[in-house]
Amino acid sequence: MSSPRPITLPTNIGVRIAGVGAALPDKVLTNFDLEKLMDTSDEWIVQRTGIRERRVHEPEKGQTASYHGARALDAALKDASLTIDDLDLLVVATMTPEMPTPSVSSLMADHLGAGAIGAFDICAGCCGFVFSMNVAHDLIKTGRYKNVGVIGSDCLTKFADYSTYGRSTAILFGDAAAGVVLQATDNPSQGLLAQAMHSDGGRAKHLFIPVAKTDFFEQDDYDERKLGAVQMNGPAVFKFAVTTFPNLIEETLTKAGLSADDVDHFVCHQSNARILAAARDRFGLPEDKLLINIDHYGNTVAASVPLVLDELKKAGRVHEGQKIMFLAFGAGLTWGSSLWQL
Ligand code: COA
Repeated sequence: MSSPRPITLPTNIGVRIAGVGAALPDKVLTNFDLEKLMDTSDEWIVQRTGIRERRVHEPEKGQTASYHGARALDAALKDASLTIDDLDLLVVATMTPEMPTPSVSSLMADHLGAGAIGAFDICAGCCGFVFSMNVAHDLIKTGRYKNVGVIGSDCLTKFADYSTYGRSTAILFGDAAAGVVLQATDNPSQGLLAQAMHSDGGRAKHLFIPVAKTDFFEQDDYDERKLGAVQMNGPAVFKFAVTTFPNLIEETLTKAGLSADDVDHFVCHQSNARILAAARDRFGLPEDKLLINIDHYGNTVAASVPLVLDELKKAGRVHEGQKIMFLAFGAGLTWGSSLWQL
């Protein structure tokens, strides 16, 4: 294999987060609603996860990942004072497309009348949005694209088993879409300061959705009731997350030559309030530097990170000049970060 030709990136291009937007399904599923479906309790769920309620999509009303994703993109474009005609590329992070093909991004672009712009999906579980930010940033940095939509949209509750058999996993997830419009600027100091993207397929068996008997990693695990439902080894994923999160923060800070004090917001994937609180304690972070909103939304997969950003932005807490670190981990197993100078 020949070595890739060296390329010189234009150094005079910066990348800014021009707009942020989110879209949530109207239907709320509380822990008390779940008590009626399975053997569980509000107390158990709140103590173990911090979740009180989550939103769920209504497929019979045509609500899908592309439906909510298009609403989120529309909101992000409005926030950026742009229209769909200004967009020249769309990157969508999702693991719950309507079907294997077409992509969610193609459908979203069509819903909004985007014309023939480039559109593709990235599937990296709950890390999808963070990985997509890193990819989209570098595409803008080359000078090839100016306004790029980056949206995380997932409807994972379609793979939730709301019976007592599936209770340890089904309680965790909610549906949402959220994301940003990234834009080229003439200030090269804006954009990525550091990033990390990792995966370990050797641990894929800890979090997967089998659709056929042959999908099981260990045949002993097979049970027909597991088909089409998220399978998770909760304690294994918890252990992975509790060690990976702080290590990822450390890795990213080291790459950027910064300390935790230099970062204004740690915008983290919302998987479990206890995992996030542990990371906060490890770095001695004040509560307002690492927002936890899992109580209202549960784990919304690729939408989870931008949903936190949207909440911060709407609260007037995001400003040019700040540094924001986006962090996630999830199925794959995957883990990654994206540290931005706004
Ligand atoms: N309600 C009541 N009891 C439940 C329950 C529920 N919804 N789910 C599980 N239980 C029971 C189990 O059956 C088990 O009972 P037993 O001791 O009689 O066998 C007991 O609670 C403990 O189960 P366990 O799975 O060990 O619980 P846990 O303390 O590990 O908590 C999770 C479960 C899922 C909350 C936790 O493991 C977790 O958060 N893991 C990380 C998940 C994550 O981050 N995933 C996202 C990745 S992107």
